Amino acid sequence: MTRLLMVCLGNICRSPLAHGILQSKLSERNFYVDSAGTATYHIGNSPDYRSIEVAKKNNIDISTQSARQFKVSDFDTFNYIYAMDQSNYINIISLARNNDDIGKVKLFLEENTSISNKNVPDPYYGDSTDFETVFSLIEVTSELIAKKLKRVQL
Ligand code: 4NP
Repeated sequence: MTRLLMVCLGNICRSPLAHGILQSKLSERNFYVDSAGTATYHIGNSPDYRSIEVAKKNNIDISTQSARQFKVSDFDTFNYIYAMDQSNYINIISLARNNDDIGKVKLFLEENTSISNKNVPDPYYGDSTDFETVFSLIEVTSELIAKKLKRVQL
């Protein structure tokens, strides 16, 4: 079983989308996908309604997800930890205990060589167009990650 964790700040906008989209591309038998936020603001909340809507339009249901905070034991549970932006990356790394922990953390968009800005933009203060942009960015990159993971498994 390969375990992947998607991390943003609040765990209500970007990482729930990455969680739902990547999960939809991988078999539940071989992969476990989860998400978390580095902040405490939204613990226990459902994803932002704008993330739920853009996912639903694309036949992905993220409405049952519940926000939680990233914790140190996530370094033990997960094989890959993907940060949505540089600030999330720094927050995660600040909790790392050793080089093994650090080695598991990567910027999500590092997996997409055709995109030069490696930060998934925070859409929280934006509008539905910003959520559409974030969805597309995460969708194409999740496809690349899923393809790579399936190759590694063979
Ligand atoms: P997320 O977006 O990190 O993609 O879930 C945000 C959600 C909430 C806040 C900031 C970003 N906030 O400041 O409450």
